[in-house]
Amino acid sequence: MIPNLRFGIVGTGSRGTHCFGALLKQRSDCIIQAVCDRNRTRAEFAASRFGAPSVYTDLEEMLLREPLDALIITTPDATHEECAIRALRHRLSVLIDKPLATTVAGCRHIIREAQLSGRVAMTGFNLRHAPLLTKLKQIVDEGVLGTVFLVENREFYENGRTYMARWNGQKADSGGLWIHKGCHDFDVFNWLLGFPRPRKVAAFSGMNVFRPDRLPFPTRDGVPPGPCCSQCPYASDGTCPDAVRYDDPEWGDAARQQDGYVKDSCMYNSDLSTHDNGVAVVEYENGARASHLECFVTGLTDRFYTVVGTLGQASLSLSGRTITVLKRWSHETVTYEIPEVTGGHAGADPGLVESFVQAVRSGTPDTSSCEQGLLAAAIGQAAELSREENRVVHLDELL
Ligand SMILES: NC(=O)c1ccc[n+]([C@@H]2O[C@H](COP(=O)([O-])OP(=O)(O)OC[C@H]3O[C@@H](n4cnc5c(N)ncnc54)[C@H](O)[C@@H]3O)[C@@H](O)[C@H]2O)c1
Repeated sequence: MIPNLRFGIVGTGSRGTHCFGALLKQRSDCIIQAVCDRNRTRAEFAASRFGAPSVYTDLEEMLLREPLDALIITTPDATHEECAIRALRHRLSVLIDKPLATTVAGCRHIIREAQLSGRVAMTGFNLRHAPLLTKLKQIVDEGVLGTVFLVENREFYENGRTYMARWNGQKADSGGLWIHKGCHDFDVFNWLLGFPRPRKVAAFSGMNVFRPDRLPFPTRDGVPPGPCCSQCPYASDGTCPDAVRYDDPEWGDAARQQDGYVKDSCMYNSDLSTHDNGVAVVEYENGARASHLECFVTGLTDRFYTVVGTLGQASLSLSGRTITVLKRWSHETVTYEIPEVTGGHAGADPGLVESFVQAVRSGTPDTSSCEQGLLAAAIGQAAELSREENRVVHLDELL
């Protein structure tokens, strides 16, 4: 009988708990041996939910004491590098949720350490496991579209507005949304195109809405909104349409008193260093081009893709179940349908966990290597640079 794999999870917030913890718990071939979060309340909640015998607030201590096979890293992006290096030095396999790290240098550091450790290190690019995108990749690889030279996607993400209410809105924590969020989409471009080397990036982005002078309601008697929804008079009386309400106990007063971390900072009246909408364009060495639009000021959650090749083009909406291919000369339309999916991110999350479990067992990742994590982070970093310095960035500067 194959022994159960013993997992640790570091970072028992939304992703660590609702995605990885929940999915590992359902499996009969894995156990969650230990969890770690610098916030004890959140760690204890996660441990009780998943029956994990051990709880830590310090990763090094967990790594020293626990007999683990693998670690899942779901802490804020700027801490991925440190967590991954520690785990690899303890010779554990790691799944690092995207982005691999917030800088190319950080990604390189992880790759070096993974090579020294000889363990599996994977980036959590779950979108590649969304059945609709897996089918799209198959259509591209079978040559149905001919040679692909143009890819476009537009992401509208209603809950993305909450990035403005927590660490995601701070570049120091997330690297900026072109890295934090865009890396998903840049990775899908790279993957669909077969990983050509990206050559140039240009990005335009900014804060059009979530700023102090764009409050969607008038203030009363000069009373400012914020500092967070739980203390804001415009949230408690229902005036603010963007008020965040959450009542999970792991995010309540007991947790808040330990580290001051809130996820309901005022989206309008906070010191944010990222964008609420933008467009980034990538050109590749083989001549292919890709463009990614992201918008967090919206009532819609979906990603729309168009992939154009010399023989035809394919399009899909990630919330749907069909891919439509239009043949270039005959104008024939072919529709591919996928079955109903379950699981987060259009059915992608269970596939990501399965691929990591298989990688740990076999000793080789079949998807989302750290080198590919670096490529997507590099495009994100170039997009951040392009926005800051108002110029086209050549990837040779970073790679
Ligand atoms: N692949 C995806 O689709 C996807 C979706 C959402 C988030 N993510 C990624 O998952 C990660 C976590 O995001 P989230 O939304 O769950 O964040 P979160 O804020 O809900 O949770 C993060 C947790 O990490 C803890 N933490 C912070 N620093 C720590 C440290 N040094 N050691 C131990 N614990 C620490 C915090 O206390 C918190 O409980 C991020 O890297 C994010 O980019 C990926």
